[in-house]
Amino acid sequence: MLKINKIGILTSGGDAPGMNAGIRAVVRSCVYNNIECIGIYRGFEGLIEGDFEKLNARSVKNIINRGGTFLKTARSKKFMTAKGRKKAFENLKNESIDAMVVIGGDGTFAGVSIFIKEFNFPIVGLPGTIDNDINGTDYTIGYDTALNTVVEAIDKIRDTANSHNRLFLVEVMGRDAGDIALNAGIGAGAEEILIPEQNMGRERLIESLSRSKKSGKSSSIVVVSEGDQIGKNIFGLAKYIEENLKEYEVRVTVLGHIQRGGSPSCFDRVLASRLGVGAIDALLRGETNVMIGIVHNKVTSVPFSEAIKGSNAIDEELIRVADIISI
Ligand code: F6P
Repeated sequence: MLKINKIGILTSGGDAPGMNAGIRAVVRSCVYNNIECIGIYRGFEGLIEGDFEKLNARSVKNIINRGGTFLKTARSKKFMTAKGRKKAFENLKNESIDAMVVIGGDGTFAGVSIFIKEFNFPIVGLPGTIDNDINGTDYTIGYDTALNTVVEAIDKIRDTANSHNRLFLVEVMGRDAGDIALNAGIGAGAEEILIPEQNMGRERLIESLSRSKKSGKSSSIVVVSEGDQIGKNIFGLAKYIEENLKEYEVRVTVLGHIQRGGSPSCFDRVLASRLGVGAIDALLRGETNVMIGIVHNKVTSVPFSEAIKGSNAIDEELIRVADIISI
């Protein structure tokens, strides 16, 4: 088995709260195991450009509570090219790095899988994305914090919605997955939740909102996932509702990137810490080409090929709960 003396760590793709806690855990686990740790800045961009810095236990002090990623991140176009990946491999060899830990989402893992195939270089990944759209883990780093951010924002929107008897469409992130919309929608008491995995159709939405109005609701919150089919153009949807339900005055709030920022929740800090330690444990066991995840509260590893399959399955139980409690 390969002896690991030096590892590289980077964050890639969209940032997520808790990435810093993950980096911290990886660095400190390296120190614990007498492994040198090299921070690679700006994801694969920095790997290709050789933007490296040696990290020690104190380099990661006071970051467990900070959002974003101090190593910075990027969605690297260069790493998608064979030339870029060759340069990345050369830089790793020149720096005598034996293995890497990457924190990112499905795009990151897809790129890394190609790199491993080309260069047989050991890499372990941690799921870092607010979307929670990775297979093989119950939760991704950043998801819980994003949910709390969304619920806090909708609570505030509810105050003004109520005061004016208005209907609010609130767009939340989640390109291909409705996890944020569904869970935050339940947590914030939304009347309707529109998710990419289920196209309820405009007519059914109108019927349902009309029923709500008749049942005595004065204001309504509709949570719309950015990847949802019927809400794709949320301003167009607002217009459609106003045209078809004259009794509703509609406003739109797009929460956008505030969902990616902020101090990570305790859940995300603990999750990232467990997965970070798990990543070094896995590399020391000789594992590669796997993502470290959490399943039924146990740290596990799953091949990248499984992790990037995504999961389009709708959580029927959550949908049922949402339907019942929004009556
Ligand atoms: O993948 C995380 C995510 O925040 C998605 O929810 C969103 O669609 C996308 O990233 C936004 O990406 P960008 O960083 O390019 O604005």
